[in-house]
Amino acid sequence: MPPHAELTGSPAPSDTDTETGATAASRGLSEADLADVERDAVERVGSAQSLDELEEAERDAVGRRSRFSACYQQLGKLDPSDRKQAGQRLHEIRKRIEEAAAARRATLSAAARAERLAADRLDLTEVLPAPLAGHIHLVTQVREELEDVFVGMGYEIAEGGEVETDWYNFQALNIPVDHPARSSVDTFFVDAGEPETILLRTHTSPVQIHLLERGQLPIYAVVPGRVYRRDTPDATHLPVFHQIEGLVVDHGVSFADLAGTIDTFVHAIFGANVRTRLRPAYFPFTEPSAEFEISCTICDGVGCRTCSGTGWIELGGCGMVNPAVFEATGVDAEEWTGFAFGFGIDRLAIMRHGIADLRSFIENDVRFLQQF
Ligand code: PHE
Repeated sequence: MPPHAELTGSPAPSDTDTETGATAASRGLSEADLADVERDAVERVGSAQSLDELEEAERDAVGRRSRFSACYQQLGKLDPSDRKQAGQRLHEIRKRIEEAAAARRATLSAAARAERLAADRLDLTEVLPAPLAGHIHLVTQVREELEDVFVGMGYEIAEGGEVETDWYNFQALNIPVDHPARSSVDTFFVDAGEPETILLRTHTSPVQIHLLERGQLPIYAVVPGRVYRRDTPDATHLPVFHQIEGLVVDHGVSFADLAGTIDTFVHAIFGANVRTRLRPAYFPFTEPSAEFEISCTICDGVGCRTCSGTGWIELGGCGMVNPAVFEATGVDAEEWTGFAFGFGIDRLAIMRHGIADLRSFIENDVRFLQQF
């Protein structure tokens, strides 16, 4: 049997190669065979396409069942003189294979790393739209502005309940039993107690009564809050809306103080160019009473559809506190005088911002709300 035939699985070396490299050649381990083992292993290792493939290639090249291993096992059968030389050659071959594997490993792991980095990459330059954050509703913004204006004039901010008794909402405010405001057509009554005695307040004026009953005089207070009326929603009415009430009680308070106060806050909210005026009106809890109007913010007082051609828009009611109200709350009407006013915050907001329909406030359409 020719020596190289013992190298299992090896391709048959060509005959011409058999005798080349005669220096290392010895019986059973020709240099041609060794060179072939080396070339084959180095090539195999060097062409691995992945780290897994490389590991497999290394096993095949130098593992227990490799041609290289088989050569090693033959060393023992060689003459001692040949054995040393062949041993050195095999050692050298192993080194070459290991170097080739190390080089391939370096290349493959660099490529794998680059691939991983490319896949993991975060694009830090990407610009994301700002998250949609909510903000304070226009009606609340206007309420807070009004509060600021009045706090600036030395007023306190007071609050009252939204559920009231007939006494606070009507009787104590001198609203007679046959007054249309007391009709169930206009008022939401609560199903509690005697029929038609407990209700959702129809205005913020009942808080006047609570403030007067407190017995701490003088009073400079504004009261913002929600009020309820049985109205069908339309462009200018909502069944739930907001008012702000003002109450001043002190020594020697006059109608001129009332007019000046209204003028001051209207200028603060609408700007210096808007004018105010008072027109005689009737409210049971003030005497004399007036409606206060501002020059139309749409046409600047010239006359347009919004102000029905008058140049003026009504904002709210006001007047000097009726002595009957002082009497109902135990305040000495000989000693104290006062004024009160009340108006819709929602309506003020639509006038200031040129909003066509009050219902926009409760539709929750972000496209509308975002504008303010
Ligand atoms: N409460 C009245 C209304 O809702 C407004 C008002 C308040 C009038 C204070 C005079 C004094 O119409």
